[in-house]
Amino acid sequence: MCGIIGIVGMAPVTARLLATLKRLEYRGYDSAGIASITENGLERRRSVGKIANLEACLNDDPLVGFTGIGHTRWATHGEASERNAHPHISGKVAIVHNGIIENYAALKSELREAGFEFQTETDTEVVAVLIDSLLQSGLEAKEAVGAALKRFHGAYALGIMFESQPDVMYGARKGSPLVVGIGNGEMFLGSDALAIAPYTNKVIYLEEGDWCRLTRESYEVFDSEDKPVMRKVQTVETEEDSADKGNYPHYMLKEIYEQPRSIAKTLQAYTHPVHGTLSLPKDATLDFDFSTVSNVYMISCGTAHYATRVAEYWFEQIAGIPCKTDIASEFRYRQPALAKNSVALFVSQSGETADTLAALRYCKVQGIKTIAVVNVRTSSIAREADVVLPTLAGPEIGVASTKAFTAQLAVLLVTALHAGLSRGTLSEDEFETHSKSVAEIGSKVDESLSRDGVIRAVCELICDADDVFYLGRGVHYPLALEGALKLKEISYIHAEGFASGELKHGPIALITDKTPIVFVAPTDELYEKSISNLQEVAARKGPVLLISDRKGVEEAGGAPTTTLEMPDCDQLIAPFVYSVALQLIAYHTAVMRGTDVDQPRNLAKSVTVE
Ligand code: F6R
Repeated sequence: MCGIIGIVGMAPVTARLLATLKRLEYRGYDSAGIASITENGLERRRSVGKIANLEACLNDDPLVGFTGIGHTRWATHGEASERNAHPHISGKVAIVHNGIIENYAALKSELREAGFEFQTETDTEVVAVLIDSLLQSGLEAKEAVGAALKRFHGAYALGIMFESQPDVMYGARKGSPLVVGIGNGEMFLGSDALAIAPYTNKVIYLEEGDWCRLTRESYEVFDSEDKPVMRKVQTVETEEDSADKGNYPHYMLKEIYEQPRSIAKTLQAYTHPVHGTLSLPKDATLDFDFSTVSNVYMISCGTAHYATRVAEYWFEQIAGIPCKTDIASEFRYRQPALAKNSVALFVSQSGETADTLAALRYCKVQGIKTIAVVNVRTSSIAREADVVLPTLAGPEIGVASTKAFTAQLAVLLVTALHAGLSRGTLSEDEFETHSKSVAEIGSKVDESLSRDGVIRAVCELICDADDVFYLGRGVHYPLALEGALKLKEISYIHAEGFASGELKHGPIALITDKTPIVFVAPTDELYEKSISNLQEVAARKGPVLLISDRKGVEEAGGAPTTTLEMPDCDQLIAPFVYSVALQLIAYHTAVMRGTDVDQPRNLAKSVTVE
């Protein structure tokens, strides 16, 4: 969602603000802007659409200043227009914001009654106008920031500049993350560490309610009661997987192809360095034993939720633990009754998803052990959970999650195996057999990728459809849901996933000769049932794509289908093999339809508002 960069620099900042906004493009946005304190005072440039439009605008009308803020906006309140784009300026105050000011309407009418005017439909503008009003009432800039923050309900990460203080910047966070970067004679604000990575690796993660005052040489941090506080300066590791596309046309394709490596890297962290056996990482010491755990809850959103839906089968079948998965936005308000001695896993690529973070806080209040399965080690979810089980997928830039999903599956599978061993539902021998299968994931995924050409060819079946259905049984049911999500988010084709067994209970009414059906059905114990469902669809002239292994493809011979043969593999690791096919189907279909694969319309990478 909205991206923020702020620089108090010792050289003109526009080029760096612009370069950072390009780096933040992956978060999803629909307009962008930059403000700086120039010799004419506060000035800004804003534009709708791609950063290239803002760049063109700056080429025509440059901004030269040493202190500046930049923003990519993902519209919440008010359409994507230049008027609604950040930075917002009121009088001598300029601000950028990520989050939602929930009481903006009340504040707006209060300020209007006091004679202040508004130019936009955004919730954010009240931040600028309120601070401006406090300045006009006689407060100093710093006092005005502190006083204004106490009036806001909702979530915010803010960057604030005052025309009267050209070498100073303020930042504040509540609900939405914000990072302070300590440079050499310069200071930075960023919506995440990736934003400021080219400038510094020394960062401070502001805590809930914190705000800060930055000059080129100094920083001060205050808590929500305005008391000066010390926050740890952390050195962030530079990610070895560079955030560029290499020779791939899209980040998404690059990330799909990175999976053998990202899975291997993740599994390596879960392999005992001496004995070579699968185990949880040393620094993820659990202060509980899975043998005494009564229930496992897994809470997450979107693709991460589908990873947990696959893992639900593993925890129940392998470890015999009652398991429940939940969508975080529902969980957090449902007041779920949680069993004693249960553990809750929060699965998130970004580690910043607002609903997942709120669900984590709910569980902590209930006294439940919390485990974060996250891709960003320094994220809010990682920092607040009792235990972190990292995925080591590297930075995921494509909005559609791919390599993070398979890395999540890998961590959840190892955790379920670990739980099975602790509970005695798996013998040492069975554990070893499963471990051997896990060791094959990377090479099987690699083999799946080698079928890319064939996968691309089968996309002809669906690329002109208006609706596509995905069906699966067992672990392949959540995979069908994930396949449908991938297709809809990047190709804009309406796609739905169903449990094959549910077909006759309603969805079959939708089948016509214009609705392709993708069956995910390797030859497991449910294969024959899946093929019966396939026949039912074929009898109603639905064009079928069967994704199976060699035996499955051969046995389905005769049914009027297009088939896609995936590598033979142990059932345990089939979700990894079949994910690749579903990801590539979505990718090639989107490319055939000419959509913006890496930045699909309306979507944001990191969903930091609810
Ligand atoms: C879909 C996708 C989203 C995310 C969801 C959760 O491709 O990427 O559905 O999975 O927004 O995000 P994280 O994992 O960052 O919590």
